Amino acid sequence: MADTNPILVLAPMRGITTMHYRKAFVRHFKGLDLEMAPFISTVSAERINPKLLKDVLPENNSGLPLIPQLIGNNPDDFVQMAIALHDLGYEEVNWNLGCPHKPIRKKRRGSGLLPHPELVDSILDQICDRSPCRISIKVRLGVSDKSELLKLIPVLNRYPLSEVIIHPRTAEQMYDGTADLNAFEEALKILQLPVCYNGDINNRAFFQMVESRFPEVGRFMLGRGLLANPFLCEEIKVGTAGTAVRSGAGTHRPTNPIERITAFHADVVSSYEAVLHGDHPVLGKMKEFWTYQATHLSNGRPMFKKLKKAQRLSTYKAIVSEFLADAEWTA
Ligand SMILES: Cc1cc2nc3c(=O)[nH]c(=O)nc-3n(C[C@H](O)[C@H](O)[C@H](O)COP(=O)(O)O)c2cc1C
Repeated sequence: MADTNPILVLAPMRGITTMHYRKAFVRHFKGLDLEMAPFISTVSAERINPKLLKDVLPENNSGLPLIPQLIGNNPDDFVQMAIALHDLGYEEVNWNLGCPHKPIRKKRRGSGLLPHPELVDSILDQICDRSPCRISIKVRLGVSDKSELLKLIPVLNRYPLSEVIIHPRTAEQMYDGTADLNAFEEALKILQLPVCYNGDINNRAFFQMVESRFPEVGRFMLGRGLLANPFLCEEIKVGTAGTAVRSGAGTHRPTNPIERITAFHADVVSSYEAVLHGDHPVLGKMKEFWTYQATHLSNGRPMFKKLKKAQRLSTYKAIVSEFLADAEWTA
């Protein structure tokens, strides 16, 4: 393993890595250095309000540094949102050029901007000087054609971007196949800006492989792999799964991985129960949570199947308790 101190960043995952999830995560797991919040759509100045920015209001933060993310293609709206975020204390904002969803990309937002370097150029030209926050961007390789990013890079190189986060898949791939490390390498060679790697870091071995193949990269963003195995940052940095950690108050958390997942889960459920009204919205959130979190439980598959059918929170909680009592951690 390269003798470095990698910066590990929580990927933005809309609907999942909410402020409630992020706060609970940091209370229970170590090793993460930074978080990026799920995207907020840019809107005109008069529509910016605390509700829109709720997920990134500083009083809702986990304690780790957080970078808000914006999605949009209107330079004035972007700048106004960047000013509002700066007023909240943020020094950096991320521009999403990676969202693969068709309705978004059809409107030339998210990854829909990747095939249009001239438009990206014009937007960057209008936002870079006027934004009070540093700007980083998050990209994929292209919509369907991997060479789109390569054609965009000469444009990006002309601007003082703080970072380019690359998820080396095309938008049409969504999450199919594997992250294309050769395409990442090609982009890395010509980018003259700091680069963060993102994609398929699902275990320590994969992380080590990426880190040793690209020693010039010091920042790594983790999404689905970290949600499935929240010990992953600890494993990457310390080397052992489910290790004991000390909370800020100095109390030991349980060392057993299942006990730690159980405590984390209880924290996430109660956070949602405190803010959502009725069983259904909480159940919706928790079903998404287990989409990832059930991956490394020995009985995760039958548990997920059963809890997806739960209509009441009390039934859901009974199912989770029953399965967790028997579960083994398999990561
Ligand atoms: C449900 C879901 C929601 C996502 N939301 C966002 C988002 O708001 N902004 C963004 O830039 N990427 C978003 N992503 C992409 C992730 O941040 C990340 O780039 C992707 O999952 C690849 O990393 P991974 O292989 O570590 O998961 C989302 C992905 C998923 C699966």
